[in-house]
Amino acid sequence: IPVQPFDYVVFGATGDLTKRKLIPALYHRFKDGQFDEQSRIIGVSRTKLTDAEFQKLARDSIETFVEKSYQDKKTIDRFIGAFSYVPNDVTDEAHWGDLSKNLREDPKVVRAFYLAIAPDLFGPTCEYILKKGYYRRDARVVIEKPLGHDLASSIEINDEVSKIFKEDQVYRIDHYLGKETVQNLLALRFANILFEPIWNSAHIDHVQITVAESVGAGTRGYYDESGALRDMVQNHIIQLLCLVAMEPPASDAANALRDEKLKVLRSLKPIDGADVGRVTVRGQYRGGSVDGTAVASYQDELPEDKKGSRTETFVAIKAEIENWRWSGVPFYIRTGKRLVSRASEIVIQFRNIPHSMFDHAQGAPKPNRLVIRIQPDEGVKLFLMIKDPGPGGMRLREVPLNLSFAETFAERTPEAYERLLLDVIRGQQTLFMRRDELEAAWEWVDPIRNGWDLANDAPQTYTAGTWGPTGAIALIERDGRTWHEDGH
Ligand code: BG6
Repeated sequence: IPVQPFDYVVFGATGDLTKRKLIPALYHRFKDGQFDEQSRIIGVSRTKLTDAEFQKLARDSIETFVEKSYQDKKTIDRFIGAFSYVPNDVTDEAHWGDLSKNLREDPKVVRAFYLAIAPDLFGPTCEYILKKGYYRRDARVVIEKPLGHDLASSIEINDEVSKIFKEDQVYRIDHYLGKETVQNLLALRFANILFEPIWNSAHIDHVQITVAESVGAGTRGYYDESGALRDMVQNHIIQLLCLVAMEPPASDAANALRDEKLKVLRSLKPIDGADVGRVTVRGQYRGGSVDGTAVASYQDELPEDKKGSRTETFVAIKAEIENWRWSGVPFYIRTGKRLVSRASEIVIQFRNIPHSMFDHAQGAPKPNRLVIRIQPDEGVKLFLMIKDPGPGGMRLREVPLNLSFAETFAERTPEAYERLLLDVIRGQQTLFMRRDELEAAWEWVDPIRNGWDLANDAPQTYTAGTWGPTGAIALIERDGRTWHEDGH
């Protein structure tokens, strides 16, 4: 269903996010007929471009970042007709741009501001929007990480934005929530009767969340200031954990879902003091080889002035949720750069059967496991025990029931931003983070970071192309468990 016509104002229009993600995502939605030329995309940035130059940038972005088979000349021509541009310097009132010709007053045209800029510019940009008269009570503002580097700075950023925009106008992006497989987690849990009765400590032994990447991070300026804990755990991984652990929301209304996530965040057992060293592991990659290609160490990738950095490129944590449903069920989470491969999944490891009748069988029953594969090779696998076919007596074997999205569905899997960008226009906040959620996540993460700073030691090193430092393996094996590795 097409969305209402809109004026999408993108600040930071010449930046990387716009070129790599926003324009390609909007193009796919346009191509599928979800909006047409009546809607407008207005680029705003310091660079002095004309409308035609910005349209050229949009065309280049599609040609570079959209798969060839979806590039259609006529559609691209129509699409970029919706693009216009206004040079603007929000830090300097004398060079504020004039958007009045680009914006429409018609209340049926949805107005959205996407701030694809550094957070220290959020305040001045919001002020500019208000002072120039572009603010409307029904306008929306979209912001995205890094939304702070700790609780205090996150509060500051939110305060700046909320001086102008009310919470129901603010769309905080965590693009993991826009991923198809992440939304599918909601369908799996709450559109089936099968799992919910056993989704608790009586039947689940533990949960694993792995977000592994094969890319490096040392050449990305921002990363060294951030590290894996802030870059991936504070947002994406905590969001995944919340969706796995939350109580069933009463509806898909934004606050129904976000209230439940917040309860999980508030039940996370704080990790501080001596616990930091006990249940968290930090790593940084040495040189090695990924997919048969030799890669440099994090240190070698860093510019001269950053050498010696102790920023973690890997983190593993044993998290616990202190509530009725999850008491005693650890959530092992890990994420890192330059790991074996790009592979993200959630593993629900059920408890063993209470008693085995198979005294004379070959092979002991193994506990069932549900593996939700987020990317790549999206899908769901449920590992079950079966009898190996054949006359050789009872041989027990673990086999996955395998739902592969690629094999089951012909459609391409849309990118996270495709869903999220249009949810802003629909006024649907369900897949966006509320301020209290974001702050509760920082509250949990800050003491871990502080514990590391106090310990003042270097992260463990790991060879690029492996599953991370040995400490991460010890973290789970100490409890008599192992990280899931899919041999099937
Ligand atoms: C970003 C992080 O938020 O997510 C990156 O800053 C990371 O470091 C990226 O690579 C991962 O996203 P995806 O969609 O590729 O899993």
